[in-house]
Amino acid sequence: MSEHTQVQMAEMKYDKDRPEAKHRLMIEDISLRDGHQSLFATRGRTEDMIPVAERMDEIGFWAVEVWGGATFDTMHRFLGEDPWERLRTLKRYFKKTPFSMLLRGQNLVGYRNYADDVAKLFVKKTVDNGMEVFRTFDALNDFRNFETVVPVIKECGAHFQGCICYSLTEPRIGGDVYNLDYYIKKAKELEDMGADSICIKDMAGLIAPYDAYKLVKALKDNVKPLIHLHSHFTSGMSPMSHFKAIEAGVDIIDTCLTPYAYRTSHAALEPFVMSLLGTNRDTGFDINALADINETLEKEVMPKYKHLLDDTKVSGIDINVLLHQTPGGMLSNLVNQLKEMDALDKLDDVYKELPKVRKELGQVPLVTPTSQIVGIQTVNNVLFDTPDERYKMITAQVKDLCYGLYGKTSVPIDPEVQKKALKGYERGEDPIACRPAEVLEPELEKAKEEIGDLAVDDEDLILYTLFPVTGKKYLMQKYGKEQVPESIKPITLEDVEKQNQMIEKAKKGELVEKSKVEDMPEKSEYARTFNVFVEGEYFEVGVDEVGGAPVITYAAAAAPAQPAPVAPAAPAPPAAPAAPKPAPAAKEEPASSASAGTSVAAPMPGMVIKYEKNVGDSVNEGETVVVIEAMKMENALPAPTSGVVKAINYNSGDAVAKGDVLAVIG
Ligand code: CO
Repeated sequence: MSEHTQVQMAEMKYDKDRPEAKHRLMIEDISLRDGHQSLFATRGRTEDMIPVAERMDEIGFWAVEVWGGATFDTMHRFLGEDPWERLRTLKRYFKKTPFSMLLRGQNLVGYRNYADDVAKLFVKKTVDNGMEVFRTFDALNDFRNFETVVPVIKECGAHFQGCICYSLTEPRIGGDVYNLDYYIKKAKELEDMGADSICIKDMAGLIAPYDAYKLVKALKDNVKPLIHLHSHFTSGMSPMSHFKAIEAGVDIIDTCLTPYAYRTSHAALEPFVMSLLGTNRDTGFDINALADINETLEKEVMPKYKHLLDDTKVSGIDINVLLHQTPGGMLSNLVNQLKEMDALDKLDDVYKELPKVRKELGQVPLVTPTSQIVGIQTVNNVLFDTPDERYKMITAQVKDLCYGLYGKTSVPIDPEVQKKALKGYERGEDPIACRPAEVLEPELEKAKEEIGDLAVDDEDLILYTLFPVTGKKYLMQKYGKEQVPESIKPITLEDVEKQNQMIEKAKKGELVEKSKVEDMPEKSEYARTFNVFVEGEYFEVGVDEVGGAPVITYAAAAAPAQPAPVAPAAPAPPAAPAAPKPAPAAKEEPASSASAGTSVAAPMPGMVIKYEKNVGDSVNEGETVVVIEAMKMENALPAPTSGVVKAINYNSGDAVAKGDVLAVIG
C-alpha cells in the first residue's frame, strides 16, 4: 500500500508549531465565494470580508476562493459593487495566499458561451486584477470549451485547475454514462491540456464516501496533477466523503470557515484540523487563530446576513438530493418559480418530469447553467404542455443547447425534441458538431459601439458585454448618471439592532399603535423600509435618519399573505420580482388598454429583456413580440394574433408579474 493511501497516527498534543506532516492535506477556503453563494444568495459584501482578510491570509491556505461563479453577476446587480474592485481591494489584505476563482469555461461568469475575443480579454483582465488560480469547468464536461481560455491562463502564468463535474444517473458511480472509466478518461483529457491540478466538482453533494475513495484512488493512479475535491454538504455526506478521499490520498479539499459552512454550503474546516492532528495528513493549521476569525464573523458579520438564511427548515440536510438527484440550489429555484406561479402543488409532477427532460436533453450534468436550463424547461413542460403536445414553450437556452451552442452532451439529444426546438431557430435548423465558440461572431467591437463612453476601461466593457441590461444599469449608477436605489445599499449592525428592537416591540404588541401616534413626523425621502417578521406575521417598518440616529417613523402590520414575494431564500434569482407589483394594479392597467386589442401577457414573473417590435409595427401570428427572462432563462413570447402593435407597456429591464400585459396587438 502506498504511503498516501493510509492515514498514519502519531502521538501528539495540539501545538501550532508542530512538525510538518509527511503528506500535508492542503485546504482551499471557499467561504468568500461558494460559502456565501450557497447560504446567502451570494450577497456577501466586500466590506464584510475585510475584517477577517488579513488573519485568513496567515492561516496557510493553499488558495482562497474570492470571485467567480455568481459573484460577478450578483455584485453589480444587487449590491451596487464593481466586481473588479473587490479583487483589487481584497488583494491589499491577502498578501501571501493565492486567489482562486470559479470560471465557467467559455461561459466565463455568465450563462451562455461568449465569443473568443470576450473570453481572452476576460481572462487577461482577471489576471491583471490579481487572480492566480482558475478553477475551470464546463457544464457538459466538453473540454473543447476550455480551448480558448486555457492558453491565456497559461500565458499569463496562472494556475489552470481543470474540473470534472461530478454527475450520476444511478445512486452510485456506474451505469452507462457516469462510470469510473468516464472520470478517468476526462481526467486524462485535462492532464493532456496541461492541467496543473484536477478538481472533482461535486456541486450537488452526490458523491458517497466509498465512491469518493474509489474515484480519488483511480485518479491518483492514472494521472499526475494534484487531485482536489469540492463537494457540497447538501446531502450530509460530504465530511464523510472528504475523509475517505483523504484516506485515498486526495491532495487538496475545499472547506468553509464554520459560520459559512454546512447546509447547502461545505464542510467546516475546523473539525478536519482537529481530526487530522498528529497524522501524516495534518493541515498544520492553528485552531486558535481560526476560532478568533470565527468570532469576528459570528459577531460582526453574520448578523447582517442572518435574514437571508433559509430558516424555513429545521434540518440542516436536504435528503431530496439523495432521492431525486436534484442539486440543492436548483431545487430551491424550482420551488421559488412554482411559488411565483401559484403552482407549488405541481412539485411532484416536476420531480417526475425532470429525469425525463434531462435524458431527452442529453443526460447532461446538472450544474449552472445546465441545472437552470433543464429545471426551467421542466417547469415550463409541467405548466404549459397539453396532453397532445409536449415542449410547448421551449426556452431560448434549450434551443441553443439543441443547436450545440453549449457543446456536446453526454448522450445524444432526443431527435424529436431537437427537431422541435430548432424549428425556425435563428442560427439554422441543423445542429453543429464543432467547438461552439467557432460559430460565434466576435462581440467586443459591437459592445464597444453600443456602450460608448459609458465604459471607461476594459473592465467596464466586459461587465457590459456579459450583462448588457443590468451591466449598463450598474455603469449608469457607477458614473453618477443614475441614482443608486436604496434597496441595494448595505445594512449596518445598527440597522440589525433596530430590527431586533422592532421584533421585541412587535412581540409586546406595541408596534401597530406606534403608527397611530398623532405627532408622527413626516416621512422623509431618505426613509428606508424594512420587513420585520414576527412569528408568521410581518410588519413593514420605515426607518428614517434624524440627526445621525435612525428613528422609527412609521410601522404598519402588513397582510399575512404578502411574505412570499419578499422571501429571500432563492439562491440567485435575478428575475425574481425585486419590486413586486401589487397584483390588483397589474390587472387594472391591462384592462383599459386590452379593450382595444389582443394582449400579450407575461405567462410568468420575470424581467423584460427586449421588445422585438415597436408601436406601429405590423406583426404576424406566432412572431416574437417580446423576450422576457425568468430565472435566468429567456422566453420569447409570440404574437397570439396578427395585427399592428398598439401598445408597449414596459421597458427593457423592467420587472413584470405573471399576467402583466406587455404589449397590445390591434
Ligand atoms: Co460549489
